[in-house]
Amino acid sequence: MSWLTVRGADERPSGLQGTVAVPGDKSISHRAVMLAALAEGTGTVEGFLPSGDCLATLACVRQLGIRVEHADSGAPTTLIIHGRGLRGLQPPEEPLDCRRSGTTMRLLAGILAGQSFGSVMTGAPGLLRRPMRRISDPLRRMGADIVDAEGRAPLKIQGNARLRGGEHNLSIASAQVKSAILLAGLYADGPVTVHQPGPARDHTERMLAAQLEPRAAEQAPIVYDAATVRLVPDAVGRLRALDRVIPGDLSSAAFLVAAALLRPESHVTLVGVGVNPTRIGLLDVLAEMGGQMGMALQREYGGEPVADVTARGSALHGTEVEGATVVRMIDEFPILAVVATQAQGRTVVRDAAELRVKESDRIASVVQELRKLGARIESREDGFVVEGPTQLHGAEVDSHRDHRLSMALTVAGLVAEGETTILGADCIPDSFPGFVETLQTLGADLRHGV
Ligand code: S3P
Repeated sequence: MSWLTVRGADERPSGLQGTVAVPGDKSISHRAVMLAALAEGTGTVEGFLPSGDCLATLACVRQLGIRVEHADSGAPTTLIIHGRGLRGLQPPEEPLDCRRSGTTMRLLAGILAGQSFGSVMTGAPGLLRRPMRRISDPLRRMGADIVDAEGRAPLKIQGNARLRGGEHNLSIASAQVKSAILLAGLYADGPVTVHQPGPARDHTERMLAAQLEPRAAEQAPIVYDAATVRLVPDAVGRLRALDRVIPGDLSSAAFLVAAALLRPESHVTLVGVGVNPTRIGLLDVLAEMGGQMGMALQREYGGEPVADVTARGSALHGTEVEGATVVRMIDEFPILAVVATQAQGRTVVRDAAELRVKESDRIASVVQELRKLGARIESREDGFVVEGPTQLHGAEVDSHRDHRLSMALTVAGLVAEGETTILGADCIPDSFPGFVETLQTLGADLRHGV
């Protein structure tokens, strides 16, 4: 098991300085590969995230008969994908291995539900523990024939199901569930409508809309807002092959923004970060806490807003996070908890019970590990409460095999006194390959071992 050792601010008190790019957005990378596979013809994807999770999607799509080339000599970031159209996928010879990636499994399940052939999806032990009824139930309601293992993977999906249109009222705001329904909806016999209780990320909607032929687009077969998405499959027709540039991942940038806010005299610029409104809840919360941040050079990559994000060392105060804001920052709670330990006063997180079914139980794991560093943090059923500020002390902490927890603990180590060691940090490249090197470029003192 590999570890990561971080030296705290007392031994290297300087602020973090510099301009860096973060790797491509994980959610958009998964979708770019899947939607390029379903397109008619060849498209390129630039800025693909070569992380464990997205490489799992790439391997699955290849198993489904899609030819993918990459121009890079090392990790693939520029892909050339030869799409075969909505009905061109080939039956896989082996079970599809989604490794540790929930997004791969849940989105691909939607696509596979609409195929003429059967398939089996499996993954690493951590993924096999995560809930899958949230997708198998709505897909069954559409007519799919799916066998799960008491609500978990492996999933066995029979081919040749006739999928029906209809209305779905989601009880949780989940982009993975919404996307599984929409992707299956491409194969349905009538309009599919999804009502969501909160503004879950809308990348699938934006990316599908960008792939419509101009004549299909005139009929607006995909219409969406924060509450509802409606897809009319007959009007979608063929999906066009596109050349896409993937924005940097805000959920990766979040760790660098937080590190800059917490280390006095820092000034960090992150170029080309995706700032889709359904993703930037953390930036809104940090600004409310007193964080000095900016967004410059706003532009668009393939329908997704992008900006250069800056952050400076700041004095912060506690805050309350609940409701729709939770949905817009669902992956950012481990790092928010770390920031809250350094903020003056109390930070309260509510309405975030979904954190319990992420890569780890992120309420329990964050509380358990931050306490080892001396944080005053308590769990609630649907969130946590942090009292700050606290001087953290370096200690040995555990990753729970959760990439975002590992990176949050790394940032905690950067503000703790002494040395912090994160055990099992080899999961960090699940979403942010090059995380350690990027922090080193900005002046942080950390090293990894095996
Ligand atoms: C994702 C949606 C979110 C998020 C995950 C990626 C996506 O999951 O936590 O990291 O790409 O659709 P939920 O849909 O379970 O909220």
